[in-house]
Amino acid sequence: MADPYYITTPIYYVNDVPHIGHAYTSIAADVLARFMRIDGRAVRFLTGTDEHGLKVEQKARDQGIAPQDFVDQVSDSFRALTPLLNLSNDDFIRTTEERHKNGAAALWTLLQEKGHIYESVYAGWYSVRDEAFYQESELVDGIAPTGAPVEWIEEPCFFFRLSAFGDRLLAHYDQNPDFIEPLSRRNEVKRFVEGGLNDLCISRSTFSWGIPVPGHIGHVMYVWLDALTNYISALGFPHNKTALTGEWQNAIHLVGKDILRFHAVYWPAFLMGADLPLPKTVFAHGWWTIEGKKMSKSLGNAISPQDLIDAYGVDPLRYFLMREMPFGGDGDFSARAVKTRINADLANDLGNLAQRVLSFIHKNGGAVMPTPGIFTDEDLAFLGRVRALPDLVRAHAHEKAPHKMLESIWAVVSDANRYVDTQEPWALRKTDLPRMGTVLFVLCDALRYLAILTSPFMPASMDALMDQLAIPHDARSISGLAHDLRCGTALPAPVGLFPRIES
Ligand code: MSP
Repeated sequence: MADPYYITTPIYYVNDVPHIGHAYTSIAADVLARFMRIDGRAVRFLTGTDEHGLKVEQKARDQGIAPQDFVDQVSDSFRALTPLLNLSNDDFIRTTEERHKNGAAALWTLLQEKGHIYESVYAGWYSVRDEAFYQESELVDGIAPTGAPVEWIEEPCFFFRLSAFGDRLLAHYDQNPDFIEPLSRRNEVKRFVEGGLNDLCISRSTFSWGIPVPGHIGHVMYVWLDALTNYISALGFPHNKTALTGEWQNAIHLVGKDILRFHAVYWPAFLMGADLPLPKTVFAHGWWTIEGKKMSKSLGNAISPQDLIDAYGVDPLRYFLMREMPFGGDGDFSARAVKTRINADLANDLGNLAQRVLSFIHKNGGAVMPTPGIFTDEDLAFLGRVRALPDLVRAHAHEKAPHKMLESIWAVVSDANRYVDTQEPWALRKTDLPRMGTVLFVLCDALRYLAILTSPFMPASMDALMDQLAIPHDARSISGLAHDLRCGTALPAPVGLFPRIES
């Protein structure tokens, strides 16, 4: 059995309802999880909600409800993303669950036992919106570099000796070039660590909505120490003694660029401090702007996933988000761009290809899977490109480049459309029926590869396409491609896959 694969999204703050930024990371993780599953890997895909901290406590207070009731409600709206976006997560963790609180408390206790925690007073800047401490020197015109407001706080707290971990972190980055991806981000984090690390305040004592610090009444854990532990508490840490021996070593954390520092500096330092193994990779993706503008509460331009699905359908939305913006870069979400992509790539290129081939077979090929004769050089050249596709797509999946997976698949979609145009099965119908059968067979085989490889992106539509090709369920995987198409099998009447977007 190939190595198990473990992929995570950030756990989302419940001070806000889900928006396209959350949908984006979850869909990207889902695509990679689904690809690895059809590639024969045992996969664990985790998402969840981050429910403690001052930001959440304040929001509950604003709404006049108890924090627990408030987080129960909002967490449900994130859990609802699973059916809404057709996510295949195996687990959904909430930081208010016992299993998580145990994990976070156990990590704290390990850090304390190993001498990495000391008690002192924090006097400095804090941003509630970012749930982050900032140095005076980091502030720009009195606000955080992220644009968030900061406040001065002074309170007793526990510190983690982060300053002692700089060299070990830098050595880890050097020895494990895939620990921080993409490369540009890795350099950014290295520069930050090379600049010297300060000890990190890891508890708060002026509010109570958090996990209690073991043995110290009046302190709750800093929300990031609490939250980051979710990735291992979901595996059964600390009760399951083998929790961190299997898939954990292959763990991939997908995060937005804004929260890279927490994942690539604090998190590995906590794990090193506790003598626990590190995850394999932290991959930082970019941000969406909306119609050219930053998404923000004050502009009120955050888009809800539900509205987008109502407008475009879930598979076209998933396709657009994965295709439009290179994973790792930034991109713009605009109604025009969505319409252009869906109409060009889905309705015209793939949808039309499937429709042309399958309705032609239905009308002129006896509505059964065609039987091939002898392949010409052109057939073999085209089939060669088709058969090379799984390895190409796999390589891009390992690079965590969903946009490149789609680019290489769509290059073959274009090849297939060209092949139909040059082979002209409609003309062969009158002149050479056996040759027509060969051409249609080649096209069905290409469609089968395209459907299986595109299924991680658009699971429901590609299942419908595979139904139309009569591909058995147990052959809907990359190894399933080794079976031959079953010539002569009756094919159901074709139905259009992707309607055009008109307005
Ligand atoms: N709770 C923390 C994560 C803790 S993980 C141990 C958190 N939550 S969040 O809800 O604020 O953000 C979750 C993710 O959404 C982040 O990865 C962030 O980058 C992403 N996005 C928020 N807005 C975004 C865009 N406009 N575009 C793309 N992703 C964006 O941070």
